[in-house]
Amino acid sequence: MGMSNRTPKLPAVLFATATFAAAFPAIAAVDFKGAVAPILQEKCIECHGPEKQKGKLRLDSKADAFKGGKSGVDIKPGDGAGSDLVRRLQLPKSDDDHMPPEGDPLSAAQIDALKQWIAEGANWPDGVTISPKVVASAAPAPVVPAGPPPPPPSELPKEFKPEAAEAAAIAAIAKAGVDVPVIAQNVPWRSVNLRLAGASVTDATIAPLKDIKSLVEVNLATTKVTDAGLAPLEKLTYLQNLQLQLTGVTDAGLAHVEKLENLMVLNLYGTAVTDAGLEHLKGLKHLRSLYLWQSKVTAEGAKKLQDALPGLYVNMGWETLAAAKEEKKDEKKEEKK
Ligand code: HEC
Repeated sequence: MGMSNRTPKLPAVLFATATFAAAFPAIAAVDFKGAVAPILQEKCIECHGPEKQKGKLRLDSKADAFKGGKSGVDIKPGDGAGSDLVRRLQLPKSDDDHMPPEGDPLSAAQIDALKQWIAEGANWPDGVTISPKVVASAAPAPVVPAGPPPPPPSELPKEFKPEAAEAAAIAAIAKAGVDVPVIAQNVPWRSVNLRLAGASVTDATIAPLKDIKSLVEVNLATTKVTDAGLAPLEKLTYLQNLQLQLTGVTDAGLAHVEKLENLMVLNLYGTAVTDAGLEHLKGLKHLRSLYLWQSKVTAEGAKKLQDALPGLYVNMGWETLAAAKEEKKDEKKEEKK
């Protein structure tokens, strides 16, 4: 008997249970596609479908579902309360036979829908099958509107031999109490952190840096260097990371930074640099990150530079604040050691 024969007027007996009446107030019979299939798909097919047949039961096609599983027929058309499928849904979650064995139990309304669907004869339209639900990870990744790609990293030459002058220059820096270590084993590239010597570091201290061409990182944060004092840095062709935060450097100093064509990271936080100074940076095509928190640069100025260097990350604030706090913490730790 087709469902259409029964609608719109259903025999009163179908509304025998209060819950069913509540869940489906005075409407037509439970619709398989609209009300039953979505529940099976959402809650059952994962274990009773094409991939797995737990308890030897498949619920994705009519023939399989009606055949039953390991323990026999689970759906008895016309007998909702007597069907093992319904019995399992109604068991307490702690019971071994409760379905689904994992995740949230079905809601009372969902159980009633299945029970009533069976009570009404378990009408499963011919040819309808239920496919496994699409898992989030299987779906194609959402298309994120892409921003401009970051500038390409600068590349260090494979063959690099430090010049003879380097050793003497490194020794001179060592006199100020600062090492110039290589950045990793088996590479010629070096970094120097003069921040730790801080206020005692002046233009004279950093003059020897011009001979240490292997430098890729120079940290001058909190030192007493001046704009003019940055001139020796012009010689550091391979410099990638320059930290000038909390120094007296201004726009004039950036005229020296302009020559550092491999620069990728520049920190100018807490300096008096202005929009005009950023003009010097427009040719730095590898520049990826620029820190400007508490400088005199405006949002428009930063935007203008980003237009010239698409993909450049400019940090004007909060993240720098967090980083600065971290740095302070690290320094305190260092001091304790
Ligand atoms: C995480 C996996 C899993 C999910 C999801 C799941 N089941 Fe099961 N189901 C099982 C396992 C395992 C068995 C076998 C239990 C046993 O043999 O004692 C089983 C057995 C059954 C059986 C008895 C089969 C038989 O004839 O022996 C029925 C009926 C059943 N499940 C219905 C459902 C329904 C309805 C849902 C959705 C509401 C569901 N299951 C969701 C794992 C699952």
